[in-house]
Amino acid sequence: MWTRRIVRSGAVELAVFEATRHVDGPETSSGADLPTVLLVHGWPDTHVVWDDVAADLSRDARVFAYDTRGMGDSNRPQPVSAYRIENLADDLFAVADAIAPDTRVHVVAHDWGSIQSWEAVSRSGAHTRIASFTSISGPSLDQVGALLRHNITHPTPRNLGTSLAQLVSSTYIWFFHVPVIPRLLLGVLGTPQVWRSFLHLMDGTPRQAITTGPTLRRDMISGVRYYRANILRRLLFPAPRTVSVPVLELLNTRDFAIRPATFATTHRYASRLWRRDSATGHWLPATHPRYVAENVRNFIGTIDANRAVPESFSRTRRFGPGQVFSGRLAVVTGAGSGIGRETARALAELGCDVVLADVDIAGAHETARLCKESGSAPAVYPLDVADTAAYAEFAETVQRTHGVPDILVNNAGIGLSGASLDATDDQADRLLAIDLRGVITGCREFGRQMVRRGTGGHIVNLASAAVFTPQRGLGIYAAAKAGVLSYSESLRGELAEHHIGVSAICPGLIDTPIVATSEIAGLDADAQFGEQTRLAELYRRRGFTPDKVAAQIVDAIRADKAVVPVAPEAQIAYRVHRFTPWISRIAARRQVVAAARQ
Ligand code: NAI
Repeated sequence: MWTRRIVRSGAVELAVFEATRHVDGPETSSGADLPTVLLVHGWPDTHVVWDDVAADLSRDARVFAYDTRGMGDSNRPQPVSAYRIENLADDLFAVADAIAPDTRVHVVAHDWGSIQSWEAVSRSGAHTRIASFTSISGPSLDQVGALLRHNITHPTPRNLGTSLAQLVSSTYIWFFHVPVIPRLLLGVLGTPQVWRSFLHLMDGTPRQAITTGPTLRRDMISGVRYYRANILRRLLFPAPRTVSVPVLELLNTRDFAIRPATFATTHRYASRLWRRDSATGHWLPATHPRYVAENVRNFIGTIDANRAVPESFSRTRRFGPGQVFSGRLAVVTGAGSGIGRETARALAELGCDVVLADVDIAGAHETARLCKESGSAPAVYPLDVADTAAYAEFAETVQRTHGVPDILVNNAGIGLSGASLDATDDQADRLLAIDLRGVITGCREFGRQMVRRGTGGHIVNLASAAVFTPQRGLGIYAAAKAGVLSYSESLRGELAEHHIGVSAICPGLIDTPIVATSEIAGLDADAQFGEQTRLAELYRRRGFTPDKVAAQIVDAIRADKAVVPVAPEAQIAYRVHRFTPWISRIAARRQVVAAARQ
């Protein structure tokens, strides 16, 4: 799949590889008008770590990779000083000049490849040769050095904790500075079987994902010079420079080698920064090539089309699973009103790309209009969550058009109150189909996509405070919502190994249009209207607004909470029924708790 050639960088010969172009349909382009992507590998890899990423990207880009000096088929100069990142950055520019003399290249780099690319993009005038830089698990040494020095001179428990955690994760780096022993140990690690088993043990990297070249052992030993030539020299001294090349940081929150907090200050130096995090480990190009290719493709598209990089990306400072919303894809059902609308607005405000779905398409469009106020442009789809086939088709469309969602909010729901024995089959079926089965369908369709993609995600299901206590007049609704709660808790257990969180939200009495539109079993139209009006007034006077529920939903995603009772009455009901269930049973008998609670 690769065509090899040699490019000189000073006295060093570098093996440069061009990926065979994969064209799905008839070839429409000579390739000259396509973007040029340059892939830079890390330690102890060669260009083959990019095999799958290159195959994917080469459908719509000219894709090149090279073996960095000392690795694979490239020259291996002897002196340690030959491996200074200044020389490695010279190599990158030499390759860029050879493969794209007339255009700028998009650099995508992993591990040491990313470290040396940071050096390249930090040079003045770098933007004239490099159009964009996608950085994976390889920080700027200058930036890390500045962060370490800051943490040591400002020794708060948090600063010391994060620095210590990174130092522990980097033990191997200090070990590489010891004479002789690294060579002996790497001699043993450097067989494909042992190396794959080692990575599997360290962060669960699937053995079959790791492709190694025939020079693995030599590269491991030779590559130790990268560490010796640079770490102490660069961590201790230079001040970070400003980077004007647009940067996309693909952050792996389960990276055993580079802690996410290492990237805490990138935004101070990279003036145009996008960041996307996922619950993935260190070897992302090998384990999730499609995810890498998808993000690179989108990023390059944005840069080449000269679209503005959203401000929210460069302001992103927080790390960890579920903490970063910028650039994430969120699907919200029942987004045309109440809690769904406010949740969509909150997520859009945080920088999510939002997909809105509702049977009430006019309501969903109104939500989209409100989201636009925060600069986002949500997509709107009609959807009846009770229609399983339509839901499956919707999920398929979302994946094809927008990608796999990072966040799903199963919010669509209706109410049903009145005496349980008065409810008709139709009323019960409709309620269960929307409030319970709709949630199950959503979790299944989007949950499968998330599991297949393998980079984690979060599912939020709207249950109700009615599940905590027996509910006179809300029996069927409470049964459906209890199903949602119980299903969510079980699903949370099942999806934990895929780093997909599941939260059940139990709001309380929230002032939304739901009561005014909910049926009341056993009442004729006039009586129903009167009761709906009374309940709506009760909820209005209660005055707990849906934006407060939305804030709790955001918090549940951020902190990966299992069950969230929202309003005070929900929190009280949660505790009363857990610790003194007899009180809530008496209350239900006497209807002390208004039958109106949804
Ligand atoms: P709402 O009536 O303001 O919004 C519900 C939205 O869901 C509407 O836009 C509606 O068109 C949509 N929807 C209804 N059936 C649908 C279907 N078959 N397919 C797609 N969309 C559909 O209600 P609210 O209050 O915002 O409720 C949102 C969720 O929160 C619901 O699941 C509800 O059961 C739950 N909840 C609400 C409480 C409240 O007091 N408002 C309390 C506890 C839970």
